[in-house]
Amino acid sequence: MVPSLLGLCMPGALLIWARTSGRRVAPMLALGALMVFQLQALPWLALGIGIAGLAAGTRRLWVTRWLSSTPFMRPLRVRRWAKHGWVSAVTSVGLGSLVKPTAPLRVTGVTDDGIYALWTLPLGVTATDVLREGESLAAFFDAPRLDITPVRPTLIALTWRWDEPLAASRELDPPTPGTVCLADGLTIGRDESGSDVVWSPLAPASHALLVGGTRSGKSIALQVALAQAAAMPDVVVVGIDPTGLLLAPFSNGPQGARLALGTASNSLADALELLRQLVDVDLADRLERLRESRADAIRETSAAHPLVLVVLEEYPAFLAACAADDTGSGRKPQERLRTRAEMYVQRLLAEGLKAGIVVILAAQRADADVLGGYRRDQMSTRLAFRLESADGWRMVFPASPEVAEVGATLAPGEGYFASPGRAIARVRGDFIDYAAYRDHVEQAMAWRRDHLSEIPI
Ligand SMILES: Nc1ncnc2c1ncn2[C@@H]1O[C@H](COP(=O)(O)OP(=O)(O)OP(=O)(O)O)[C@@H](O)[C@H]1O
Ligand SMILES: [Mg+2]
Repeated sequence: MVPSLLGLCMPGALLIWARTSGRRVAPMLALGALMVFQLQALPWLALGIGIAGLAAGTRRLWVTRWLSSTPFMRPLRVRRWAKHGWVSAVTSVGLGSLVKPTAPLRVTGVTDDGIYALWTLPLGVTATDVLREGESLAAFFDAPRLDITPVRPTLIALTWRWDEPLAASRELDPPTPGTVCLADGLTIGRDESGSDVVWSPLAPASHALLVGGTRSGKSIALQVALAQAAAMPDVVVVGIDPTGLLLAPFSNGPQGARLALGTASNSLADALELLRQLVDVDLADRLERLRESRADAIRETSAAHPLVLVVLEEYPAFLAACAADDTGSGRKPQERLRTRAEMYVQRLLAEGLKAGIVVILAAQRADADVLGGYRRDQMSTRLAFRLESADGWRMVFPASPEVAEVGATLAPGEGYFASPGRAIARVRGDFIDYAAYRDHVEQAMAWRRDHLSEIPI
């Protein structure tokens, strides 16, 4: 019984051994030894060889079905492939060791969405070298993406991923008022590795430029950022909004008067008065306070000394409305709203950061006629959604011409983000619909009236 069972099964087992280990001689020798020592089971052995040969010959016909019908064996297969294939895979792309044996891949977890592993780098190989070969190493497990994260200088974590964090937007769950503060940053969305993309206006200090063609996701991104800012006691939102939709829910807050909504003549006058106050009063007072406290910049905020977030939604539309009003009223050059607005905005961009006044400006394009190069350069945090023209992309990300090629095909909410100290990354912005945004901000403003109304800005 035992010899016949051995004879029937061993050829198949030896074939698997030969395939997975790459050895040929040892399995052949073992088969020869079986034939000699199990002579009485020769017919069974012949049958076993026949079955193994047939299975090997028809492998292409059944292997996919076999793999998909035995998912419980995937971790085993992954580990076996890692054990036998890794060293030759990294050696073939020049990451192997020339002096010592290359360390094997340590698989630490296998899930439906990913394979998690650690690898000790060979002498002379750095994490940057591995990053450069990311694409070929992703193919090792035939995965669409591979995340490579240094753990220590000589150890990296590798994650082969099949999930696609950018496939769909994440719904923003707005924070409860008072439970977050500026130091938590404003989460914009997620990058390709699934990590949060966060804009921290004061760490390091930067104004933000938000560009994208029509219906590309700018206003939704602003809603996502402002829904969080509304809940931060150490942030005050003020600004100009020609659409009237974005900032309207802030009108009930303690700083309700510091908003200019719409493009009617009186709204434009309000907008100019707001900009004048921001420059002549807020900025001047804050700079004076800095001088008194002998500090060079405001780095900490509190409810008593909050960050002032100046939102300029549809900035070119606001300037165009100012210009139309100037023409309609026949103003003299030095009194023109547009000229004055541009001058105030320029001062806020140039001097606001050290005084804790941060601008977030949204525009369909960053053209020179509305955003001269100097003003654009002051806004070092940049988020760009779909932009039809390659020129438009080059103005926003001059150092990354490669993104211009995909820039015209991005879906709403999909874009690129860069900030000081953070390399440009493809992102998918979070989503919040207008009704939820409006309700949340109105609640946050009611909370402010109850808790913060006595605090001046
Ligand atoms: N992050 C997102 N996730 C999913 N859908 C989004 C996202 N952002 C925007 N959209 C979709 O795109 C539409 C347009 O977005 P939004 O109003 O923000 O565009 P916009 O750039 O402000 O356009 P406009 O210049 O016309 O004001 C939204 O109504 C929504 O359906
Ligand atoms: Mg919009």
